[in-house]
Amino acid sequence: MADLDNIQSGKNYHLDKPHRNPAFELKGSNSLDWGMKNRLARIFNPRDHRTVMLAVDHGYFQGPTTGLERIDVTVVPLVAYADALMITRGALRTSIPPEMSRPVVLRSTGGQSILKELSNELIAVDIEDAVRLNASALAVQVYIGGVHEHQSIGNLAKVVDSGIRYGIPTMGVTGVGKELVRDSKYLGLATRICAEMGAHFVKTYYCERDFEHVAAACPVPLVIAGGKKLAELDALKMAHAAIQEGAAGVDMGRNIFQSDAPEAMIQAVRSVVHEAEKPQKAYDLYLSLKNAPVGSL
Ligand code: 5RP
Repeated sequence: MADLDNIQSGKNYHLDKPHRNPAFELKGSNSLDWGMKNRLARIFNPRDHRTVMLAVDHGYFQGPTTGLERIDVTVVPLVAYADALMITRGALRTSIPPEMSRPVVLRSTGGQSILKELSNELIAVDIEDAVRLNASALAVQVYIGGVHEHQSIGNLAKVVDSGIRYGIPTMGVTGVGKELVRDSKYLGLATRICAEMGAHFVKTYYCERDFEHVAAACPVPLVIAGGKKLAELDALKMAHAAIQEGAAGVDMGRNIFQSDAPEAMIQAVRSVVHEAEKPQKAYDLYLSLKNAPVGSL
């Protein structure tokens, strides 16, 4: 039975302090609900509003990609260095220990392979399963200018709606068909459409000319994919330029897990994203971590 006699009544109501309503400063996110903001704050570090996402979802359309043949062996050691993990539900359930504390950005569309038309995707995860997996965000590929453009924009709209019901944000991923040029005009079109359709953040590619216009015209945070494997210094230069020109981080895959030293590379990428390290300094860090005797760090 409740002890009604010994209930302590409150004493300090801080009457001199107005109730605080601090702004949620992540780009374009101040009007979202609490759960959305909380999940976004798990992905984008609230200190600098930036993120290093590790993308390992490639198998969903290209099978056992180099570096991802055994996710349990090669990806698990990298997870601790990532701010978030972009992954399919199959790889998550089979290969990532549930004790892992990093937020999951769940690949939510698929349905094609490298043998067929890439834009022919459908929604491949039920929102209830995303909740079951404790997803912090959903990822949807959108193929602007692709054969199935209309269908892929429809997928984005449907996933955004499902996510809103449960407070889970959606990342629009600008998929680029072989025939499409990755210039600022195209990327500006694709990223803006994702944001206007309700994506809470957008993944795109870096372009050397006018990327700052792409970032400025997108009202939600942009993260860049790494694309095909580059020399480590070049990948760090690309990440640095993207951040300087307005990206909120990276969602990088092959340039990390296909590196000669993936753990060293992801730490070098972190230094560029979170410490604004210059590419050469970050590369020096990569070399020193790569060449450090095992067990010395
Ligand atoms: C597929 C994806 C991939 O996860 C992503 O593009 C891969 O990242 P990276 O290009 O850095 O290997 O979204 O479309």
